[in-house]
Amino acid sequence: MREIIRANNSGFCFGVERAVKQSFDFVSPQGRVVTLGPLIHNKDVTQKLANKGIHEISMEDIPSLMKEDTVIIRTHGVAMAVYDELKEQGVSIVDLTCPYVINIQKKVKLHHDKGYKIVILGDEHHPEVVGINGYCNNSAYITKSGEIDFPMKGKICVVAQTTEKQSNWVKLITNIAETAKEFVAFNTICKATEDRQKSAEEISKEVDAMIVIGGYTSSNTTKLYEICKKNCPMTFHIENAGELDEIKEKIKNAVRVGITAGASTPEWIIKEAMENL
Ligand code: F3S
Repeated sequence: MREIIRANNSGFCFGVERAVKQSFDFVSPQGRVVTLGPLIHNKDVTQKLANKGIHEISMEDIPSLMKEDTVIIRTHGVAMAVYDELKEQGVSIVDLTCPYVINIQKKVKLHHDKGYKIVILGDEHHPEVVGINGYCNNSAYITKSGEIDFPMKGKICVVAQTTEKQSNWVKLITNIAETAKEFVAFNTICKATEDRQKSAEEISKEVDAMIVIGGYTSSNTTKLYEICKKNCPMTFHIENAGELDEIKEKIKNAVRVGITAGASTPEWIIKEAMENL
């Protein structure tokens, strides 16, 4: 008899739940409703939004927006310059930036204005990091691994992408402390991320196989996968239950199967996967 164990903390976080709900509930008085980039890193959700008439646009599409259009800003947030561009176009804005991300943006702006050099732990191409960097004139030093390749001089302010791994944060702070004389550090890794990573760490040590559900471009899901794979070699990353058919053959002898899901994975997809297993 197989046992399916779901991680205590898995699936939608507060910020994503709020963004998805408000986007689906939004009724435009006029004009088109668009999201700046995919609302969340989950194709099933963005497809449902598209069915409702809410499509995704890129930064390059902003000049073609009309005054009657509405732009939804996703949880990752955007740089200050993007708000200026949108205001210039005269569009309405529904700002669903996660409050935890707004907190980072504010800290970065405040310290940059006070003359601190900003250091961000994160992926320089991730929209959240691109947005945060926009609050210090795109002058941040960004490191993905926590390694730094030159001595830190002057006043330093350190923040982290909300979905970063705690181990990378510790590595970065240790490295900075070796050379910096004056620095302030805000561990801005989101509690939801931390909780999901801790649960994934625990459960993946106890099972024979592990299924991690979430978008392939989702940063927090990828990190859950990395954590689980380290503890459980039979770890698989899927986007939805449809992908389980192939995996089921590989895990046919697994008695205990663990399931976790990224912060942008809707409940219905997790339930479908559990039922399928
Ligand atoms: Fe916000 Fe944390 Fe989710 S930053 S979007 S609550 S992972």
